[in-house]
Amino acid sequence: MVSKLTRRKFLTKTLGIGAAALGAFRSGTRILAQPETVRQAEPPIVISTWDHGVASNEGAMKALRNGMNALDAAEQGVNVSENDPDVHSVGLGGYPDEDGIVTLDACIMDWQWRCGSVGALQDIKNPVSVARQVMEVTDHIMLVGEGAKTFALRMGFPEDKLLTEPAREWWLNWKRELSSQDDWLVPEDVHDTIGMLVLDTDGHLAGACTTSGLAGKIHGRVGDSPLIGSGLYVDGEIGGAAATGRGEEFIRTNGTHLVVENMRRGMSPQNACEDALRRIVKINGGMVDFQGAFVALSINGEIGAASLQPGFQYALFAEGRNELFDGKHLMGD
Ligand code: GLY
Repeated sequence: MVSKLTRRKFLTKTLGIGAAALGAFRSGTRILAQPETVRQAEPPIVISTWDHGVASNEGAMKALRNGMNALDAAEQGVNVSENDPDVHSVGLGGYPDEDGIVTLDACIMDWQWRCGSVGALQDIKNPVSVARQVMEVTDHIMLVGEGAKTFALRMGFPEDKLLTEPAREWWLNWKRELSSQDDWLVPEDVHDTIGMLVLDTDGHLAGACTTSGLAGKIHGRVGDSPLIGSGLYVDGEIGGAAATGRGEEFIRTNGTHLVVENMRRGMSPQNACEDALRRIVKINGGMVDFQGAFVALSINGEIGAASLQPGFQYALFAEGRNELFDGKHLMGD
């Protein structure tokens, strides 16, 4: 059980820094202290990435109200974004790879280190639910490509055409405008992965992460989203984190595991997110021009969210309100 908070009101407070390591970050060779920022609410809490997270949070909270647990809520919550053809970075309607094929990555994890994942899945619009089945009915954790699709069909998932007309038009325009100078970096206007964390009133924390990945990616590219510890990590004794943005950076830093381990060492979720983002900046030579963001939630209801660049938003359903917030960003203005 999560410890009951005495404060009903969602609050923001700044604590003085105690232990030297708390909230410390490296800038060059100096370690700078910074205030420990803690925002806390009482469960149930749902936090997710981007503006489409608002509708997904609603779906998760509905599942909780219907008596389901954090794991069910996380799955059903992100299903909302997967099913929305107007969300072009997740599930149905997701932008395709360079060959015009929509391939989906997703994972799910609960408070008991149970997890499942799928990578490069085609023709199935709810990859997170396939990931859930990998977790529930096999002793594997990850299935990819054709094998993942065969498994999904065997589990009764319907086959769907995921490339919608607007997504196909985007792909045709993108192909038309390609030049020999182009790379596979995500266009700025394409929102990204939904990562969600849910803390239920039993104090159980679960998370889900699902995406169509980098628009125009090389066919076969798998990002961070299905990788436990990169796109999503949940530790039922500490807290969880989910990532969105340039997946390769979260893979090589084990980003969400790093955030949770920061929390284990005493950082607030907010400072844990910011510290992990600074790691990415550091290994890129001190300056980055891509977007990346984390949301984090501790089992005590503490909330964190931060991004590299301006523009990141996260949806938070806490204390009865489902709201969209601008995340704190490290770079830019
Ligand atoms: N963060 C999603 C991806 O890079 O595929």
